[in-house]
Amino acid sequence: MQSTIKDPSLAPEGKLKIEWAEAYMPVLRKIMERFSKTKPLEGFIIGACLHVTKETGVLVRTLAAGGAEVYLAASNPLSTQDDVAAALVEEGVHVHAWRGMSTEDYYKAIASVISAKPDITMDDGGDLTVLIHKLYYDEPGIDVEIAKQVVGKWKIERGSVIGGTEETTTGVIRLKSLAREGKLLYPVIAVNESRTKYLFDNRYGTGQSSFDGILRATNLLIAGKTVVVAGYGWVGRGIAIRAKGLGARVVVVEPDPVKALEAYYDGFYVTDMDEAASLGDIFITATGNTDVIRGEHFRKMKDRAVLANAGHFNVEISVNDLEQLAASKRRIKENVDEYRLPDGRRLYLLCGGRLVNLAAAEGHPSEVMDMSFGNQALAVYYIIKNKNMLENKVYKLPKKIDYNIAKLKLFSLQVKIEKLTPKQREYLRSWRLGT
Ligand code: ADE
Repeated sequence: MQSTIKDPSLAPEGKLKIEWAEAYMPVLRKIMERFSKTKPLEGFIIGACLHVTKETGVLVRTLAAGGAEVYLAASNPLSTQDDVAAALVEEGVHVHAWRGMSTEDYYKAIASVISAKPDITMDDGGDLTVLIHKLYYDEPGIDVEIAKQVVGKWKIERGSVIGGTEETTTGVIRLKSLAREGKLLYPVIAVNESRTKYLFDNRYGTGQSSFDGILRATNLLIAGKTVVVAGYGWVGRGIAIRAKGLGARVVVVEPDPVKALEAYYDGFYVTDMDEAASLGDIFITATGNTDVIRGEHFRKMKDRAVLANAGHFNVEISVNDLEQLAASKRRIKENVDEYRLPDGRRLYLLCGGRLVNLAAAEGHPSEVMDMSFGNQALAVYYIIKNKNMLENKVYKLPKKIDYNIAKLKLFSLQVKIEKLTPKQREYLRSWRLGT
């Protein structure tokens, strides 16, 4: 099948970038080496919907080394690195992705992946898996209508997909909701629930890459500013730590009482968005929820407040409300739009409210994606090894795989860890031993 990308001539640059990422992804390299020898994915078609970055390039190479045929669509209209897409096409991957694609092209690209009749789906945010289900259950929706232009009347047969993987919190929430309604058509591995994924990718990956995006877009000084972080899950925690490290005053907005208390004892000022709106110089959303910052909040903001989103979808900052409130709008530079309110105050929205770390920067560093994508590759292997043994549920990867990924990473970092003595192991096992 033909690929649809921006410019095939960018392939040499893309190859160099993938090579750069690969050098910092020792876990994935080890898996690639094993896959190359045993070819466990031979004969399987993998349909993927991921951010098309240099790190994804290394993952796709790993899957191909295992013998899989890979079809790849973007998981966000603004996150594709066009040179990487070109390099992957040159290596035989079927890619449907380019930076700046329209909503229609975005769903058509995912539908092209569905048309390849994948045995395994690999998703980031759930759009591929959900579209497969919407087509199967004849659900209404603009995504379905667009997809039908590509797949026609064809729909996936029950059992034809043997399993799927999901990368992110938002996607896992959507797939668990499908499972709760008894509608999940095949087993899915929630890669996001591996500790070697969320403790590093969500926290340190998003923590750093969100600021990378904000700084590339604005080049503002963070020190001395008030940064409002909405959401105190692993992503919000990571952003708050980095904001503090850069010298910001950090305000956390969080509806979960336990997480809010944690933020308080982590030393942050905790309040609701109603108050935070008037305090912040920079706002970063990381909640997975919709309308977190909306009209009533924009009305209270300082002149020149900056708005950025680090959550998967572009729904956390209500762009609709901003458009309606604003008297005028102009583009300052790539990824920075100025909205002027009727009283003259200016608000700056980054990347149209889309993921700032992938739209304005290059996503998480390769070192953390190494573990996230190590989980992805091993999840595919797990699905194949356990074919016909898994139910149509959302699963975590076994702890042993999590430990193996951590051990491989530690080995690559030349970090030694403590070994328990037999006496210590026995002490931990027994309820008899006290003081
Ligand atoms: N998600 C966040 N960062 C990413 C990256 N560098 N590559 C792929 N997916 C990502």
